[in-house]
Amino acid sequence: MKKVSLLPLGRQPEIKTNARVLDALLAEEVGVMMACGGRGLCATCHVFVEEGSESLSPRNAREDRTLGRLSGTRPNSRLACQARVCGEGVRVSLPDGLYALDRKDIESLIGKRARTAILHPIDGRVLVEPGKIITRSFIMQLNDVDFQVNDDLADDA
Ligand code: FES
Repeated sequence: MKKVSLLPLGRQPEIKTNARVLDALLAEEVGVMMACGGRGLCATCHVFVEEGSESLSPRNAREDRTLGRLSGTRPNSRLACQARVCGEGVRVSLPDGLYALDRKDIESLIGKRARTAILHPIDGRVLVEPGKIITRSFIMQLNDVDFQVNDDLADDA
C-alpha cells in the first residue's frame, strides 16, 4: 500500500502499490469527470505532481500526446489515470476550475455567474472565467465534445 497526498485538501488516501493516482482521487470522492473513461484521452484527470514524481510510473506515449494538446499544463503535469504509484512521497494538486459537465446540465446555468473557472473537458481550456456570466455561446463550445471523445476512442482501438 502507498499513501498519496492530495493538495490542498490535506487528505492522504492509501492505495495499492501500482494503483493509479486516479484511484487515490476516487477513494476520497474527489469529483473526477473521467470524460474518456480513464483511457488517457481527455483533460479531466489532469493533476500537478508537487513532490514524489520519481515514485510514479513514467509518462507513456498516449499521456505525452494528450498532455501536449491540453491548456494549462506545466512540466509537472500528469494524467491521474495513467500515472501509477510505485513509491511513497507522492503529493498532487488539482488545476483550478471545474470541467464542464454535460451540456444539458450546463444549460440550466445560463445567465448565472461562474463561481470558478469552467474548463473544457477534452483540452482543458478555460471556457468561462470566474465571475463571468455563463452564456449560450458557451454551450455552443461544448457541441463538439462528445464527437471528439468518440473520435479519439476510435483511434485508440
Ligand atoms: S480520465 Fe480522461 S485522461 Fe484520465
